[in-house]
Amino acid sequence: MDQPPVDHLFLITGTTRGIGKALAASASTLPNSIVVSLSRAAPFLGNNRQTIRIDLNDTDRIGAAFKHIQVDRQKTGRLTHTVLINNAGVLDPIAPIGDCDDTLLAQNIRVNLTAPLILTRHFFHFSRPFPGRKWIVNITSGASRAPYYGWSAYGAAKAGLDMATRAMAMEFSRIDPTFAVCAVAPGTVDTAMQEKIRNCSTKQFPQVDKFLKLKNSGALHSPERAATALIRLLMDGKFKNGARYDLRKMGG
Ligand SMILES: NC(=O)c1ccc[n+]([C@@H]2O[C@H](COP(=O)([O-])OP(=O)(O)OC[C@H]3O[C@@H](n4cnc5c(N)ncnc54)[C@H](OP(=O)(O)O)[C@@H]3O)[C@@H](O)[C@H]2O)c1
Repeated sequence: MDQPPVDHLFLITGTTRGIGKALAASASTLPNSIVVSLSRAAPFLGNNRQTIRIDLNDTDRIGAAFKHIQVDRQKTGRLTHTVLINNAGVLDPIAPIGDCDDTLLAQNIRVNLTAPLILTRHFFHFSRPFPGRKWIVNITSGASRAPYYGWSAYGAAKAGLDMATRAMAMEFSRIDPTFAVCAVAPGTVDTAMQEKIRNCSTKQFPQVDKFLKLKNSGALHSPERAATALIRLLMDGKFKNGARYDLRKMGG
């Protein structure tokens, strides 16, 4: 492995499309960066890019995935940031609880909540020997705070992620203050997830009209804009342990 010295190392989940794809593209333009994509498909190619194929439903395989990250430890002496972005997410099942599919309910909690916790645990051990700051960004949602009809699993998983963020922030401040974790709500972003919402029937999701109006009035932000706002938040050094950020208020 012949790598130049690394200043920024990013691990990002769910980079096949949407916000994750834009985040990976934006992070890989930072000088001396390495971006590791943890995704089910679509190799993420380029000199400073690596792809680790993983289905985050397979939570038992997450620990092993870290062994495939190719970083020359001798080139990490000037690392300033090692960052895990728990971005991958699923909305399904969208339906009142009685109509939900058991498998989809379990998968929702696994991908949106269990996987980020396990990823964070392994990231802690993987990155602890590195110099510099170690940051974990949990992509949350407005649905973690307000209930949405038909989104019980999604809202519960994101609310759980918010609380896990706060608890882990408390732990890091005592155990190793070079670590910090925050939750970031991206706002309403024009991705496949929004398309899925707009394609719902009113029986499944009575608020569908609100989301159709957001799209038709041009109120959705682009994934690139959200990604730029998040990378700026990280690089400006304004990242506060335990905070919850709303990218809409930060130019995203
Ligand atoms: N868009 C919005 O308005 C909005 C609002 C609030 C919060 N968010 C959050 O923002 C994050 C990104 O959402 P998005 O809008 O960009 O959604 P998206 O376009 O649907 O993309 C979701 C990403 O997650 C990946 N993913 C899903 N299940 C996975 C699994 N089992 N294993 C590995 N990867 C998996 C997908 O990969 P595959 O291609 O393999 O499926 C895809 O890359 C999510 O956490 C979402 O909850 C989005």
